[in-house]
Amino acid sequence: MNGYLCFACATTQAADFGGFLCPSCGENLEITYDYVAAGEELQRSLCGGPRDIFSYTPLLPLRKRDTPFPLRVGGTPLYAARRLGESIGLCNLYLKDDTLNPSASTKDRASAVAVQRATDIGATVVSAASTGNAGSSLACLAAALGLRAVVFVPESAPVAKLTQMLSFGATVIAVRGNYDTAFDLCLAASDEMGWFNRSTGYNPFTREGKKTCAFEIWQDLDGRIPDRVVVPAGDGNMLSGMWKGWCDLHTAGLIDRLPKIDCAQSESSAAICHTVRRLRDNNDAEPTWSTVVVDKVEASTVADSIAVDRPRDGLAAVKAILHSAGEAVTISDAEILAAIPDLARSTGIFAEPAAAATWAAVQQMVRNDRITKHELVVCVVSGSGLKDVAHASEVAGKPLVIDPSIEAVRKVLH
Ligand SMILES: Cc1ncc(COP(=O)(O)O)c(C=O)c1O
Ligand SMILES: [Zn+2]
Repeated sequence: MNGYLCFACATTQAADFGGFLCPSCGENLEITYDYVAAGEELQRSLCGGPRDIFSYTPLLPLRKRDTPFPLRVGGTPLYAARRLGESIGLCNLYLKDDTLNPSASTKDRASAVAVQRATDIGATVVSAASTGNAGSSLACLAAALGLRAVVFVPESAPVAKLTQMLSFGATVIAVRGNYDTAFDLCLAASDEMGWFNRSTGYNPFTREGKKTCAFEIWQDLDGRIPDRVVVPAGDGNMLSGMWKGWCDLHTAGLIDRLPKIDCAQSESSAAICHTVRRLRDNNDAEPTWSTVVVDKVEASTVADSIAVDRPRDGLAAVKAILHSAGEAVTISDAEILAAIPDLARSTGIFAEPAAAATWAAVQQMVRNDRITKHELVVCVVSGSGLKDVAHASEVAGKPLVIDPSIEAVRKVLH
C-alpha cells in the first residue's frame, strides 16, 4: 500500500497514517497502492486458479510473511447456476459461494486482512461490532492466530452466530440495543482500551479483504468480466469492497472493462438504495461527494446481517453503485425468505436471508427488464443458511411424520 484517500473530500494520507478516518472530514478512507507495480507483481505471482485471499498479496495492505495463514480464507467456488438461471430466462448466471469460508460467511475475507494487520502493528486484542457474522468471523480467525477477540452484538443476534463466537472463545458483549448502538459502543470501548477495531466500513482494512471476492471471480471466469455482480448490503462494505476489487484490477492494467455492481437490500433496511435513488432522481450521478449525506432508516428485516440503520460504509457504497451504473434493488422480507428454498432447491446452496437477498434481487431485476437474457450475472451468496435456521424453517416446509411402517410410508407418499 502507498497511502489512504478520503471518499468524501479526496484528502490523502501517507501509508504510515495511524488512524482509520479522514482527519479533515471524518469520512471513511480507502487504501491505495502503486497500482502498476502491484499489477505486474500480481501477474507474475498468480498461477492456476485462486488458492485463497493471500494469493493477491501484491494488492493487499499487509507485510509479507513466510508462514501461511492457518485457515483457508477465500478460494471459494464460482458455480455456473444453469437451472436456476434458466428458471427466469438467464443464460449466464453464476453464484459465488462464500458460505464456504471458515466461519461460513464472506466476512472472513475482511477479518483475515484485519487480524493480519493487527499482528503487523503488534496488536493482541481485536474488537468488532457485528450483526453476527463479522463477530463470528473475527472470533474464528483470532482463535486461529491466538489473538483475543471482543465482539459487540445486538442482544437479538441469531443463536448460531452467538454460539460460533462463544465457541471460538471470544468475549461477547450483547448490547441491549440494535447494531448501531453496538457499533458506537465498540468504537468508544476500543478507543479507551486500545483494541484494534475491525468494525465494518470504519476500518479501511476490511474493504481490502472484501475486494478479494472480485479478484477470485475474475480469475475463475478466465478473464471474462461479468456484466453485473449482485451484492447484498447492510453497511455497504461488501459492496464497496467488490467495486474496489474490480477498480484495483482496472487501475493495475489487468482488465479493460468494469462490471455493474447491483445492490440488494431489504425494503425495510434500505438506506443505501434510498440514497442512490434520491441522487438519481436529482440527476446527480456525480455529486460533490463531500456534501452527500447517506440516508438513515429504522431497520427491521428478517435478514439480520443487513439490518442497519446508518450504513457505516454508505458513502463508498453509494459511490460504487453510481460509478458502476448498478441497480439499487429493494426486495420484501417475504421475497428474501422465499429465495432461500428457491436457491437451495435449484443449486444445493443453503443461504441465510441476507445471502438469499441477491437471488431475490436478480428475480426482481429480470421482472422489471433491468437484466437482459445473455448478461453474465454473478450473484454473491454471502452466508450459510445454517446461521439462521429459524427463518429458513419458516419457508422450508415440514417433515412427513409417520408411524414406523411401510404402509404408513405408502400412505403418506400418496
Ligand atoms: C451474510 C452477509 N451478507 C451481507 C452482509 C452485508 O455486508 P455489509 O454490512 O458490508 O454491507 C453481511 C454483513 O454482516 C453478512 O453477514
Ligand atoms: Zn475527508
